[in-house]
Amino acid sequence: MSQTETVDVDILLVEKLIKEETAALDVKHARSLSYREEAKGHLPGGVSSSWQSWPPHPIYVDRGKGSRVWDIDQNEYVDFHNGYGVMVMGHAHPKIVEAVQKRVALGTHFAQPTEDALPVAENLAERTGMPYWRFGNSGTEATLDAVRIMRATTGRPLIVKIEGTYHGHHDALMVSVFPSKEDAGPREHPNSVPQTPGMIPGTVDSVLNVPFNDADAAERVFAEHGPKIAGMIIEPIMTNCGVVLPDPGYLQRLKEICHANGAMFAYDEVKTGFTVAWGGAIEAFGVQPDLVAYAKALGAGLPCGAIGGTEEGMAMILSGELDQVGTFNGNPLTMAAARVNLTEVLTKDAYTRLDEINTIVHGCEAVIDKYRLPASMKTIAAKGSIDWRVEPIHEYRDLWEIDDRIPQLAWLWQLNRGVFKSPGSKWESWTTSIVMSDDDAQRYVDNFESFAEAITG
Ligand SMILES: Cc1ncc(COP(=O)(O)O)c(C=O)c1O
Repeated sequence: MSQTETVDVDILLVEKLIKEETAALDVKHARSLSYREEAKGHLPGGVSSSWQSWPPHPIYVDRGKGSRVWDIDQNEYVDFHNGYGVMVMGHAHPKIVEAVQKRVALGTHFAQPTEDALPVAENLAERTGMPYWRFGNSGTEATLDAVRIMRATTGRPLIVKIEGTYHGHHDALMVSVFPSKEDAGPREHPNSVPQTPGMIPGTVDSVLNVPFNDADAAERVFAEHGPKIAGMIIEPIMTNCGVVLPDPGYLQRLKEICHANGAMFAYDEVKTGFTVAWGGAIEAFGVQPDLVAYAKALGAGLPCGAIGGTEEGMAMILSGELDQVGTFNGNPLTMAAARVNLTEVLTKDAYTRLDEINTIVHGCEAVIDKYRLPASMKTIAAKGSIDWRVEPIHEYRDLWEIDDRIPQLAWLWQLNRGVFKSPGSKWESWTTSIVMSDDDAQRYVDNFESFAEAITG
């Protein structure tokens, strides 16, 4: 559909609807609102992580079961947030509950390996073809390890990342995560913009940014800085500005550019792992990096991360020259959950169900056409997003063109109609789960249709 055929969304109407939907939410969230005031006394903003507070107020969750969650006001939602995609297996899955209960009774921490870590590593090796694995507790730790390994292995200082990607909250990659148009600099030579105050002085100078889906730009950066570049880290699908798929051949070319310059190539599969395919993006696009970082869905809701690699990629850990460490690494409880999660829950068959659910959610595309919305849709297995742009988002800078009031209203609209989605600013994105029913998936589409009707008058 061409731009001229779409309707113009009336932003004044959108603003009016945001007010109405916020007021309707407040009525349903009487206890949440008073709890937030109480919580603010000891938890800054009333939350445990700054991004848990999204306007108009944090959603305080009481419990989850299967495809559903309940807030502390006892409103029930179909969960399309799924804890940023961690819960693709659904909440309180009986097999995970059983595994955790069994392990709790046997002791939960020794800072020594237990017998569950090996089957988890074996399963990861089968999914990815990467033979060696170490565990940690979060995506932040996994990408921190990736960066350290790349620098240690090559003896070089610089890291290339994609502009507009988040890889966790350690200094090394908290650069140009969501840079503003004013700060970002020219597309050909983006500035390295610190994402947070308090970073180690000089950190930003060790990170070079390039636009996603532009292998020529990566080649230019290597031409300019090649002998100093340790490696490149990339989310093979950008998942923190909608769902941005890689162009055909892009990932392979990046790998070749890195290797031609003696640099390493690392994937951040913290979000794509276990959600976009059984073998994550490595399987989906058929390009194997030197290192891969996993977290989120790996632990089935317990804090877990992993760094994996080829023999060359993990050489310094294999030789003992580089210590990859952590008190809770390979924690018995986490490994027990991960083992059952990978071997009995997120099996190959589970991905067939994700595709079926995806087919239903794709009903949103018909809604976009019917109402001539200035929007487009992308999905891959459990992940999907609607971009409020006729041309799908292809790289971070495309986001600047989007008026974030429309996706904000879309989020509130779904919330008030029994669908809990990840809060986000300029995009609508979601993660489905293997336990969703057809009706659960259809609810998203029905709400999207009533939303389309409302904003097009
Ligand atoms: C792509 C990506 N990498 C890394 C991280 C960091 O993971 P964690 O929050 O577990 O530290 C995130 C978190 O959302 C992420 O989206």
